[in-house]
Amino acid sequence: MYTDYKFENNSLMENIKSYYEKFDMSSVYDHTLDVVQQVDMIKNLEDDIRAKCVTAALLHDLGRVVAKNDIVNFCTRNGKIVSSNELNYLGILHQFASRIIAHQVFKIEDLDILESIECHTTLKKNPSIIDKIVFLSDKLSWKEKEHIDLIQEMKNRYEHSLDEAIFYYLESVHKQRDELACYHEWTDDAYNYFKEEIMQCPFDTSITP
Ligand SMILES: [Fe+2]
Ligand SMILES: [Fe+2]
Repeated sequence: MYTDYKFENNSLMENIKSYYEKFDMSSVYDHTLDVVQQVDMIKNLEDDIRAKCVTAALLHDLGRVVAKNDIVNFCTRNGKIVSSNELNYLGILHQFASRIIAHQVFKIEDLDILESIECHTTLKKNPSIIDKIVFLSDKLSWKEKEHIDLIQEMKNRYEHSLDEAIFYYLESVHKQRDELACYHEWTDDAYNYFKEEIMQCPFDTSITP
């Protein structure tokens, strides 16, 4: 049911909208538009990188349509090996389901786009610029009250560098790791990666707004 959708028109955005409507998840579509808006606000991106980031942002949460009681089967059936850690928090699997749906339903073949979708929640070590932008834009789109201070500080750090904004988020997750149902191994890899990067180059301003 998740992968046999037939499109009604040629616009990616319209197809995504109708896909979410089919599953009665228009709120995720609204969030999707917020993430695209965050990508649009990133300055100094090459056109092809920006285009890939926008496409990935449009597709990043498609896996949200897969029901919690289906998602392990859905991911496993499509080649994802689900770890015992991931079983502790099934929500984490939506990033993998999103990649599967983006590929199978929306026919995305570009690995830069697929990989950034696949790590948009956890990130991973040595991420591409597209992985970083999609990850950051997703977080910056959060509107919940409990995230306001976190988001504001990420924005402050982003004034200095993209990596510092991302590291600030990863560091806050790392501090809470013992309280989380699933502190994902990719997030820990990303945390250690950025920690080392920032220690080596604390004033990197190669990507600034
Ligand atoms: Fe997500
Ligand atoms: Fe999202």
